[in-house]
Amino acid sequence: MQTQILYPDHSSYSLASSLIRQGKLVAFPTETVYGLGADALQEKAVLSIFSAKGRPADNPLIVHIHHRSQLESVCEIPEAAFSLMDAFWPGPLTMLFPKKPSVPDVVTAGLPTVAVRMPSHPVALAFLQACATPVAAPSANRSGRPSPTTAAHVLEDMAGKIPLILDGGACDVGVESTVLDLVHGQPCILRPGGVTREMLESVLQEDVLLAGSILRPLAKNEVALSPGMRYKHYAPKAEVTLISGKEQNVLQALKSLWQQSTDAGHRTCVLCFSEHLQELSDCNPHDLGSLSDASQVAHRLFDLLRGLDEEGIETVYSEVISTDGLGLAVMNRLGRAAAFRTIEV
Ligand code: TXA
Ligand code: MG
Repeated sequence: MQTQILYPDHSSYSLASSLIRQGKLVAFPTETVYGLGADALQEKAVLSIFSAKGRPADNPLIVHIHHRSQLESVCEIPEAAFSLMDAFWPGPLTMLFPKKPSVPDVVTAGLPTVAVRMPSHPVALAFLQACATPVAAPSANRSGRPSPTTAAHVLEDMAGKIPLILDGGACDVGVESTVLDLVHGQPCILRPGGVTREMLESVLQEDVLLAGSILRPLAKNEVALSPGMRYKHYAPKAEVTLISGKEQNVLQALKSLWQQSTDAGHRTCVLCFSEHLQELSDCNPHDLGSLSDASQVAHRLFDLLRGLDEEGIETVYSEVISTDGLGLAVMNRLGRAAAFRTIEV
């Protein structure tokens, strides 16, 4: 199969929506990452998402809508969801809702809840409107690879497997949406993302819990609240280790670890904040973005992780950022890329 990349215009939306109606897959940009879409109500189409990605069948998908009126056909709406929809839709917030029978079980991996979000990217909204059906879409990467934030990333992973990629340029947020569980008691973030815990708490006027495995590996026999948390994700081929502690100690440790690893013959780099590039100039530094701007770090993180593979990097030592605000989403992704291996200095 030839994979076409088209810029969004009247004719590409029309092609994209007719492919979706025929049960085919279309990759499209959102403000978080690129999605791999299929008609959420066609079981066979949804199944082909799992095979194109190499995704385990027990990891459920997010259903994307462009208008709230589409909710009625797919789920019940808990009272608490309305204020969050008012505040954060369209935008990078996914909520779990009790599922209606119209949604095939393959979408939710058999769970009684369905995850739904309304993205804010204008191309995503126009595409969803043209499709006129809810669209199930995971991130458009091969399972286990960092999520794609450009059409070129999608092509790397999906060439020959899907007919069309809509190219909307680089994604703004750069990490996936926040997944929030409102249906099992106190609101709980299953995956941190573009809408922060602080933003949710200010609207809900109550504490929002964090799923245990956001900043550490799942314990043996621990049940993942969100099935996606079970899987190795966001991982470059290199072995990544996080270095945490006082700034001067971290910089010292990065220098000596880089030297040891390089002396041992490994292709090694450090991931550091823009503010430390100069001090670490001998250590093959890669720029995470500014220490004081987690949104910049989020925006470039997945592109950076993909680049490490292309460069053939084998060993990575990385700085860490505070888990306030969007820093929590960054540290979840970076932590998982490192299998949460951390050296305290
Ligand atoms: O930003 C995003 O959310 C992107 C764009 C394309 O919208 N999508 C995305 O989808 O990241 P995916 O499939 O890569 O991640 C969905 C996450 C997984 O961790 C999955 O386990 C969780 O949401 N999830 C989906 N449905 C769920 C459900 N019913 N209960 C618990 N977790 C669920
Ligand atoms: Mg994904």
